[in-house]
Amino acid sequence: MLAIGCDHGGFELKQEILKHLDERGIAYKDFGCYDTDSVDYPVYAKEVCRAIQEKECEKGILICGTGIGISITANKQKGIRAALCTDCFMAEATRLHNDANVLALGGRVVGAGLANKIVDTFLDTPFSGDERHVRRIRMIEED
Ligand code: RB5
Repeated sequence: MLAIGCDHGGFELKQEILKHLDERGIAYKDFGCYDTDSVDYPVYAKEVCRAIQEKECEKGILICGTGIGISITANKQKGIRAALCTDCFMAEATRLHNDANVLALGGRVVGAGLANKIVDTFLDTPFSGDERHVRRIRMIEED
């Protein structure tokens, strides 16, 4: 199960991504927001991250205007590795190297066509499992 959430700046792109996920038959849970009224992105970032922490969902997608605020928030949540991606190279690398569990996108930065390719790359690329990457990921959580 995939968790997805956005603020008003990401709402329109989220609608495009939901359509794409439906076409691919990918199950998701939409944590809002549900229109373009102004809201606070930390609320939605934390909801999506909580679903991952509680293992209700394996991965998440978060979208705000730039992708920045929502990824900063996500990366403060324990066990969350959120990657703000603007191209498919970044999406592939962050899965292979960082085992990122949240993809952050900027609704005012990338168009729907590119965003959906980034989503596909993120969802379809497995973690490499290489020892050096496992070690570095473990180090992220250390004090
Ligand atoms: C909202 O206007 C905007 O600040 C938000 O979507 C996001 O870009 C924050 O980082």
